[in-house]
Amino acid sequence: MKIGIIGSGYVGLVTGACLAHLGHTVTCVDHDENKIRTLKTGKVPFYEPGLSEMVLTNVEAKRLSFVGDIAKVVNRCEVLFICVHTPSRANGEADLTFVDKVARQIAKNLRKYCLIVEKSTVPVETGEWVFRTIKRNIKKGVHFDVASNPEFLREGSAIHDFLKPDRIVIGVANERSEKIFRELYGPLKAPMIVTDIKSAELIKHASNSFLALKISFANGLSRICDAVGADVEKVVLGMGLDPRIGAQFLKAGIGFGGSCFPKDLSAFLHISEQLGARFELLAGVLRINEFQAKYFVQKIQNTLRSLKGKTIAVLGLAFKPDTDDMRSAPSIPIIQMLQREGVRIQAYDPQAMEKAKLIFKNVTLAANAYDAAKGAHAVAVLTEWSEFLNLEWSRLKRQMTGKFFFDGRNMFSAPEMKKHGFNYTSIGRPSA
Ligand code: UDX
Repeated sequence: MKIGIIGSGYVGLVTGACLAHLGHTVTCVDHDENKIRTLKTGKVPFYEPGLSEMVLTNVEAKRLSFVGDIAKVVNRCEVLFICVHTPSRANGEADLTFVDKVARQIAKNLRKYCLIVEKSTVPVETGEWVFRTIKRNIKKGVHFDVASNPEFLREGSAIHDFLKPDRIVIGVANERSEKIFRELYGPLKAPMIVTDIKSAELIKHASNSFLALKISFANGLSRICDAVGADVEKVVLGMGLDPRIGAQFLKAGIGFGGSCFPKDLSAFLHISEQLGARFELLAGVLRINEFQAKYFVQKIQNTLRSLKGKTIAVLGLAFKPDTDDMRSAPSIPIIQMLQREGVRIQAYDPQAMEKAKLIFKNVTLAANAYDAAKGAHAVAVLTEWSEFLNLEWSRLKRQMTGKFFFDGRNMFSAPEMKKHGFNYTSIGRPSA
């Protein structure tokens, strides 16, 4: 099938590359000319395992191409995916300016039937609004349908998530649209949930909110574990084996970040308020999450007592491992709070250093974990990169002037770190 992807950011590019991999002919569009130039050379402007290779292979096979002008694409395609950014406004509401602009551009240029699919995370009822916007602006007699097909891609494993999905959710207005999706996703042997457009939009809101709720549940629990000297890892293990609860997304730490959970939860809360059905539980999820970063800083403060003039080696800056994404990373408020208390930060991340340079002021970025630890009173792990599991602890410790170790991701075992000579503190687990 011939597919157009409007918006070649993270979701758009993964979707485009994977659909090309499935054999479709895909054109990705973006208004950012620089990005299009970079992509044409086969380079991906962010880190996602396997994506560069997939882009290159499909560009060479002529199944994937890139253009800057939407008008060149719309009439070549049977399906158009809207994958543009929907950033948060100050009040948490999603800003749909880009979606609106794209809907108008499609309407202006479309001359033959096309299925227009919202893939970006958008507020419930956006499908209806996109339909009305296109209808108002399209040439008389040109037919189209609008559908919702939310993505459930995790950064770091997006290609796997696309090619081996748990489910494919499609919200459609008629059988014609459903048939197109069945052909499009035919090669993926995954259950397909076919529903109306609003329910599909709500499946996305509800899935992300529920996952975030599980994380905040574990984080709230971690404070109770700390207060009584219990072990949150054991508690969630005991809960998670009950299939009604499930073990995933119950890892306590310094809170969730990334481009999705914080933004999507705020947007969903805002929508619920507007609908007169405020989803209070979500406000609690966000509150717990915001506090978790402060809680970690408090733990450091309680252990080191005075923070002024101390040096802390921060290991990991990205919001999670296997990505260079720093959006809403908990490392940002944590480092800023520590700096306000007079701490010098020496940081290292395996992938996010370039992005970190643009965010932090007065942070020394080190070439590796050992350099970050030079002269440090303490180490703070903020992202659970697997390479940290293989660090030579005696070498790291020799670089330090102190022996304090704060594990914000519960990566290590307390007895083991004690054996290596560290004064070890983690989240919701007894210290060593
Ligand atoms: C998420 C959803 O998982 C995905 O389905 C959706 O489409 C986009 O948003 P992503 O933001 O890539 O994906 O990351 P995810 O792996 O879900 O992690 C989100 C945050 O939660 C990270 O900061 C991670 O460190 C944190 N997290 C996750 C926890 O703190 N504990 C957990 O148990 C799981």
